[in-house]
Amino acid sequence: RLRVGVLVSGRGSNLQALLDAAADPAFPAEIVLVLSNIAGVQALQRAAAAGVPGETISHRAYPSREAFERALTETLEAAGVDLVCQAGFMRIVTPWFVDHWRDRLINIHPSLLPAFPGLDTHARALAAGVKLHGCSVHYVRTEVDSGPIIGQAAVPVLAGDDPDRLAARVLEAEHRLYPHCLRLLAEGRLTLEGERVRVDGGRDDALLINP
Ligand code: GAR
Repeated sequence: RLRVGVLVSGRGSNLQALLDAAADPAFPAEIVLVLSNIAGVQALQRAAAAGVPGETISHRAYPSREAFERALTETLEAAGVDLVCQAGFMRIVTPWFVDHWRDRLINIHPSLLPAFPGLDTHARALAAGVKLHGCSVHYVRTEVDSGPIIGQAAVPVLAGDDPDRLAARVLEAEHRLYPHCLRLLAEGRLTLEGERVRVDGGRDDALLINP
């Protein structure tokens, strides 16, 4: 099974979705390590409950972003991690980290990229009046929330939505999309063609609508 390290900063509901998927021995990836940049977060409790090693590496303990990332990398590599999944990891990573883990580092973002990179995606989607919103799993590149898109899940924006209601609908989609994309990757069904991802079996396999 593919050995996965998950980077977190908070609640860890996406981590939970990955842990739940990987609890099935038939799932092609296993979560071997959870690293948080913030101590005491719920994500670390979720790791512990699943019997997965969890550790805090505080970015505040390092003089630079890169020094922090070198510490993360050392710990990930000591655990034999093949793939790094960012799941609500709220640090911007440097070109050094992106380059070191190139094509072995993925992220989930709460919008249909390339729309709404950055923060407050749900409020911005509402303000823009879009009718469809959702989430994306993508390979990480240097520019924030950019990189080859592996899969997306779309949800409707409904009358009466506020950012919280919309976020909850998107989050449910995230919890389906992330394990789905991790499975595609771990099964070796993704090929990077330039900066686009070809999905063996057809692009429809990485597209979830109105889950
Ligand atoms: C998720 O909605 C994730 O997509 C988002 O933060 C939330 C984390 O929730 N990530 C980002 O905004 C990354 N910039 P979780 O900790 O419960 O998975």
